[in-house]
Amino acid sequence: MTKALLEVKNLSKIFPSMTEYVLKGINLKIEKGDFVSVLGASGSGKSTLLTILGGMDTATEGEVLLDGVDITKLKEKELAKLRRTKIGFVFQFFNLAPYLTVEENIILPMILERKTQKEYAEKLKYYLDYLKLSDLAKKLPGKLSGGEQQRVAIARGLIYQPEIIFLDEPTGNLDSKTAIEIMELLQRINKEFNTTIMQVTHSETNASFGNKIIRIQDGNIIEEIVKDNDA
Ligand SMILES: Nc1ncnc2c1ncn2[C@@H]1O[C@H](COP(=O)(O)OP(=O)(O)O)[C@@H](O)[C@H]1O
Ligand SMILES: [Mg+2]
Repeated sequence: MTKALLEVKNLSKIFPSMTEYVLKGINLKIEKGDFVSVLGASGSGKSTLLTILGGMDTATEGEVLLDGVDITKLKEKELAKLRRTKIGFVFQFFNLAPYLTVEENIILPMILERKTQKEYAEKLKYYLDYLKLSDLAKKLPGKLSGGEQQRVAIARGLIYQPEIIFLDEPTGNLDSKTAIEIMELLQRINKEFNTTIMQVTHSETNASFGNKIIRIQDGNIIEEIVKDNDA
């Protein structure tokens, strides 16, 4: 049996001052190359799950094994490096730095790792082109449409060729046509780079772009559907 890229074991989360667990013993395996969609009502714990898997919040109990390493046991400094180099994260509201240009936003993770221009120039050019952002490279995010801003965020998430990219309602702030374009783009990234993708969505249509659909309700996984290959 192959080792899962990401394995979640009995993950629970309760926030301080709360009386009820937000995540109640989640178990989950994600293989390299999976495109996973997490569906669930508002407040069901989707963002909490994604934030913990992405190393941005701590678990109360349980393990999160990324490539066999339990990230819940890492020190903050190790975790920060992991977040910049092995994990991509894309948010609903894009979270771009408003005073940095498109290209500066994209290479930000590499700047933070003190990479030189020589090291990132080629990648930057590649992803600008891949995401059809070349003409917008010198612009500020505020001058871009929502769909364009989200492509910048996706480029930033991809620049390190991460093991996995997490997206929390990446199209929640976009019209439905642009949303489909972003889903098609994610599908292409998944197939062409074999990048593992895990997205949270409200939309059944968006969810159907993945090969695995996980339904979450009140902090429990209530259903897991694995589609046939190339369906
Ligand atoms: N930092 C926090 N402190 C206390 N409660 C929180 C915090 N973040 C989320 N919650 C609560 O946890 C539950 C799940 O939230 P969330 O994971 O954001 O759900 P979803 O993304 O599915 O809408 C909600 O009841 C929410 O109010
Ligand atoms: Mg949420």
